[in-house]
Amino acid sequence: MSDTRPRLLLTQRQTAPVMQRIEQDFNIPAVPERQLTTRELLDTARAFQPQAILISTGLPLRGDDVLLLPDSVKVVATVSVGTDHLDIPALHARGIVVTNTPDVLTECNADMAILLMLAAARRASEYGALMREGWGRSLAMDELLGTRISGKRLGIVGMGRIGRAVARRARGFDMDVMYSNRRRLPADQEAGATYFSTVTDMLPHCDILSLHMPASPETDGMINADLLSRLPRGAIFINAARGALVDEDALIDALRSGQLAAAGLDVYRNEPNPDPRFLELPNVFLTPHVGSATVETRTDMGMLAVDNVVAVLNGRDALTPVRA
Ligand code: 8YV
Repeated sequence: MSDTRPRLLLTQRQTAPVMQRIEQDFNIPAVPERQLTTRELLDTARAFQPQAILISTGLPLRGDDVLLLPDSVKVVATVSVGTDHLDIPALHARGIVVTNTPDVLTECNADMAILLMLAAARRASEYGALMREGWGRSLAMDELLGTRISGKRLGIVGMGRIGRAVARRARGFDMDVMYSNRRRLPADQEAGATYFSTVTDMLPHCDILSLHMPASPETDGMINADLLSRLPRGAIFINAARGALVDEDALIDALRSGQLAAAGLDVYRNEPNPDPRFLELPNVFLTPHVGSATVETRTDMGMLAVDNVVAVLNGRDALTPVRA
């Protein structure tokens, strides 16, 4: 008997509860061992004629790729909040609904920014390396000292859901929160944070700068040498948003010169092969794009993506559509 369940192309494995649901409710080709490449996705789509595709960051679908998708595809559901890997106008032009997974990863992504902040300020890379070498000698009172984060001035670039969740956490550290954003937030969302209409104006006041906005052609490389030079000397830089926001040559120069005391980075321009110069810097704490990587959040993301697929294939509105 033929399989009448909707055909779903899975570009990488999801968590066990999500896989269980997918395997029960959908007709899927073999579950990939690793994330498919764009070429593999397109080849599989041509052969399998899926109605839905579950995708994520790290798998770009540009305009030319979108033209090669079969007409069977009704929905592309990305298991991510960011959509910079997708050509949204090209997908919409083909009548394909695009959905993402906002909200469910907000708390974990904000936790990650705080993790990076503490780790960078408190020299976690160097302490970790010393412990792995066996430690073996007592440290002097003035040796390997970090920076206190409590009470410091934190500048948040992009005060959306994640930026506001970082601000909430920062208040727990008695930090003085500032933000720059396209528009000023209403007082209840601002919650005492100081608004700057430009990043440039905010920078001289920031002991710590944390990025929380999406990548787009307009924001590509916006954190450049000029902006980094406007921070107070010895500031700390945090990026759990997107590598493309940063001019990495300028960031590396600032970390080498002491303009930045430290950086905590979860994202890079060239993932999964970050600039090797980062690895030589003692004052960076690096993680491999894992802001949403908890059992709970990855399951919530996968379930929301599947909910979106089910809604669209049943003729209903997606729960979290990505609009033009
Ligand atoms: C990744 C993210 O999607 O949601 C986003 O935009 O960057 C992350 O949650 C996730 O790490 C899978 O690559």
